[in-house]
Amino acid sequence: MNPRPNRQRLLLVNGPNLNLLGTRQPEVYGATTLAEIESDVTAHAAQSGFEVRAVQSNHEGALIDAIHAARGDCAAVIINPGAYSHTSVAIADALRSVDLPVVEVHLSNVHAREEYRRHSFVSEVAAVVIAGAGPAGYEYAVRYLAAKLS
Ligand code: DQA
Repeated sequence: MNPRPNRQRLLLVNGPNLNLLGTRQPEVYGATTLAEIESDVTAHAAQSGFEVRAVQSNHEGALIDAIHAARGDCAAVIINPGAYSHTSVAIADALRSVDLPVVEVHLSNVHAREEYRRHSFVSEVAAVVIAGAGPAGYEYAVRYLAAKLS
């Protein structure tokens, strides 16, 4: 049986290369840094009474460990898996295992780009997928989860 989830905490996960936001292909991903996104998500979540645990890693296993640690400790997961969206059955399985609501966020509209970005293993597990809204997508994720969890 799953431990009782902490209703007050959201896990925010950002995958590979997202540590470079702000300087990485700004024409695609914009000028906002990951630190700014994490601080915005934290501020928006606080308005609804949620804490945020923010994790970024370039390593698949570290992302999986962070997702496992949310079990019993977080109420939901907001995840931008980066390129692992399109390749990682293991991250999708980790999300399935923790049995928490998942919102998948992509800064860019992955459906308007290369063909290989159109499929995401994580979307099979996500309650909601937000793509193409830029950093605001993370804020929409918080708003959805705050309404769903209240
Ligand atoms: C991304 C889209 C992915 O295809 C890409 O590999 C990323 C970022 C996005 O936020 O738009 O790293 O997840």
